[in-house]
Amino acid sequence: MTPMIRGNICLNAHPAGCEAAVQAWVARAEAKAANIKANAEKAGKSLPKAVLVLGASTGYGLASRITAAFGYGAATIGVSMERQPSDKKPGTPGWYNNRAFDRAASKKGLFARTIDADAFANETRQKVIELAKEEGIVFDQLIYSLASPVRLEPSTGIMHRSVLKPLGSPFSGLSLDVLSGALSKVSIEPANEEETKATVKVMGGEDWELWVKSLKNAGLLSKNFVTLAYSYIGPSHTSGIYRGGTIGKAKEHLEKTAKEMNAWLKPYGGSAFVSINKAVVTRASSVIPVVALYVASLFKVMKEKGLHEDCLDQLLRLYADRLFADGKVPTDPEGRIRMDDWEMLDEVQAEVAIRFANATEANLREITDFDGFKQDFLEAHGFAVKGVNYDIEPSLI
Ligand SMILES: NC(=O)c1ccc[n+]([C@@H]2O[C@H](COP(=O)([O-])OP(=O)(O)OC[C@H]3O[C@@H](n4cnc5c(N)ncnc54)[C@H](O)[C@@H]3O)[C@@H](O)[C@H]2O)c1
Repeated sequence: MTPMIRGNICLNAHPAGCEAAVQAWVARAEAKAANIKANAEKAGKSLPKAVLVLGASTGYGLASRITAAFGYGAATIGVSMERQPSDKKPGTPGWYNNRAFDRAASKKGLFARTIDADAFANETRQKVIELAKEEGIVFDQLIYSLASPVRLEPSTGIMHRSVLKPLGSPFSGLSLDVLSGALSKVSIEPANEEETKATVKVMGGEDWELWVKSLKNAGLLSKNFVTLAYSYIGPSHTSGIYRGGTIGKAKEHLEKTAKEMNAWLKPYGGSAFVSINKAVVTRASSVIPVVALYVASLFKVMKEKGLHEDCLDQLLRLYADRLFADGKVPTDPEGRIRMDDWEMLDEVQAEVAIRFANATEANLREITDFDGFKQDFLEAHGFAVKGVNYDIEPSLI
């Protein structure tokens, strides 16, 4: 089986490759377990015993779940929406990742339940609540890591569709084709008000708060409950389409929601954070115009400086150096956890700006890490994973 890629979307996934990639992350998290536990103990903070991860099957959500389970020994419930395979058509990578996670957790005797359902639906909230009650689980953490193009709002029945568009004026930049390395100019017209509102409905904080409130009302939050949602800021090159665009409005809403939730969680000993994570290659991020070229330039510079991290590195550091730091969780003045601290270093951004501005199809492999970008993209779909024999035709189910 070979990858079928169209417009930076991979249409298939390799089962054995996904399994191997998850196992590799599990092994890396286990290797850090003693270290991160020691940190938590030193800081006098108790380890999370039960963690709910929304968007648990790929990218940052999968890394969060693996860190919680294999780094800290937490019981996890993971929610995601993935396509299961048939005997003719492979499932989505997340479907295979979930299966691999469940197998690895069961092997270690860790409690893990994976729910394949629409996280925006009230029925899914109810399902998680019932499961937690049946199992006697009270959540210490809720990780909100959904990246979705649509949301069916339960209270209105409206299907909101998010868009990746600039605001106010058109945006143009270079898109990078992950398959061929071709660079092409894209121009995107600005969003109208309706599209902006819809994007905030899908990717803002409304659904996150609904989850936390539902669990609280069901008496399922522990005393030192912490909830985290992930966001991104990034540099000026991507700002027109990202932070200054429709998705940026949604992320602002997410951050506002964290502040509001903190106010009502505080009396119960709980807290809410937005963590601004580093740019990485995931199914969600590869399709954002300009971001691919920026990420390839960023990887080159961060690797040269020994600062490169993938999703799992970010999560291991987020737990060890932020959540379980001595004293208060370190944040910026806005109360956000900054895991993009290394990405945004002046020395990194100055060098990335030069590479980003000078990249051409001819010098792409030399001045950017196009190969590394492509490798991560393939791995996210179970291809090009170390140790996997791709000559053997895999069983899809
Ligand atoms: N990728 C990056 O560079 C980057 C950087 C910083 C922050 N983030 C943020 O991290 C979060 C996760 O993004 P990612 O890049 O890891 O994405 P991803 O595409 O790898 O993962 C998205 C997850 O959401 C799940 N999902 C989507 N719709 C769902 C639904 N209706 N019900 C249940 N599950 C659903 C998917 O199954 C998957 O588990 C996002 O908030 C994103 O903005 C990403």
